[in-house]
Amino acid sequence: MTVRLAINGYGRIGRCFLRALYESTYRDQWQVVAINEPADLASIEYLTRFDSTHGRFPGVVDVSDDALRIDGRPIAITHATEPEQVDWAALGIDLLVECSGRYGTRDQLQRFIDAGCPRVLLSHPAQGAEEVDATTVFGINHDTLRGDERIVSNASCTTNAVVPVLALLDDSFGVDHALLTTLHSVMNDQPLIDGYHHTDLRRTRSAMQSIIPVSTGLARGVERLLPQLAGRVKAKAIRVPTLNVSAIELTLTLRQRVDAAAVNRLMAEAARGPFAGLLAYTEQAHASIDFNHDPHSAVIDGGQTLVSGDTLATLLLWFDNEWGFASRMVDVLSHWHHRWPR
Ligand SMILES: NC(=O)c1ccc[n+]([C@@H]2O[C@H](COP(=O)([O-])OP(=O)(O)OC[C@H]3O[C@@H](n4cnc5c(N)ncnc54)[C@H](OP(=O)(O)O)[C@@H]3O)[C@@H](O)[C@H]2O)c1
Repeated sequence: MTVRLAINGYGRIGRCFLRALYESTYRDQWQVVAINEPADLASIEYLTRFDSTHGRFPGVVDVSDDALRIDGRPIAITHATEPEQVDWAALGIDLLVECSGRYGTRDQLQRFIDAGCPRVLLSHPAQGAEEVDATTVFGINHDTLRGDERIVSNASCTTNAVVPVLALLDDSFGVDHALLTTLHSVMNDQPLIDGYHHTDLRRTRSAMQSIIPVSTGLARGVERLLPQLAGRVKAKAIRVPTLNVSAIELTLTLRQRVDAAAVNRLMAEAARGPFAGLLAYTEQAHASIDFNHDPHSAVIDGGQTLVSGDTLATLLLWFDNEWGFASRMVDVLSHWHHRWPR
């Protein structure tokens, strides 16, 4: 049976989700039947067809009767800015993929349910764990989805990248404390040249001109997924002037004595085995652009692993913050959908 989906907020992640779905094996089984996005239809069509980061859409994109069409299949377009302004029930959707980033509390998200969306998959962490029925990182806790959840968060791109690696290190060597520094490509919440931002002074600065530290809830997000590490993880985030692909420097003190070879062996074996498809391992000489359109949650750069003394280790992880994350949304959805009541 076809699963009917809608997307709310058709920006970087909304468009990547549509395309990741199109490039996946679920293309015929899951149908995006509606998109709600403030932009006009001509711009929606144009940015679906052409993407400066991921290249041209691999299917036929056009417009007919006020709908966007992908390979001739229509997708209804609305331009509402409030959940109640769309008749979701009439669209007959099974799930809304919320990618506007504007709804973080239970009360805000419940508005979609009350307006006729049976379920919501969120493209960012909710403000607190209790605001959603589950926060899922595929490969770590997707098995705990029961099928009766109404609102599920796909966590963040950085959480998806770092949590599997942290979990592996904790299981094998015991993590004492961890420090995470994200080097994140620019996002649409930063101006191209200096401009006002209402909550963060640093986000007023030109995205392409500076390395810009910004606030992050990553430590909280990690502890939500790995509660055994509560109080022992700190994180900072730095925006850098690249368009896509990000990195995490993960530094930790371990309870067992290790060397770089042992850490790398663990990572390489996980990437070949239980985490295949989610983690990859490389020792080649890479730069971030090499991972553009890479679907993994993280790629461990073994050549950058260092151990000082016997217990202080640092690793470098690469991840496509757009494509990797959108691919995990597809994965979570595929798993969750199998558990929905029939
Ligand atoms: N980009 C990444 O690497 C990444 C990775 C993982 C998770 N995320 C998360 O995903 C969310 C979206 O990020 P993004 O990078 O895709 O942002 P984006 O490119 O700015 O896309 C958001 C889109 O939603 C639209 N929008 C705003 N208010 C809306 C409303 N009330 N209803 C419907 N649509 C609305 C925006 O339109 P206007 O521009 O007109 O406001 C914009 O087109 C954020 O929470 C972000 O943290 C982003």
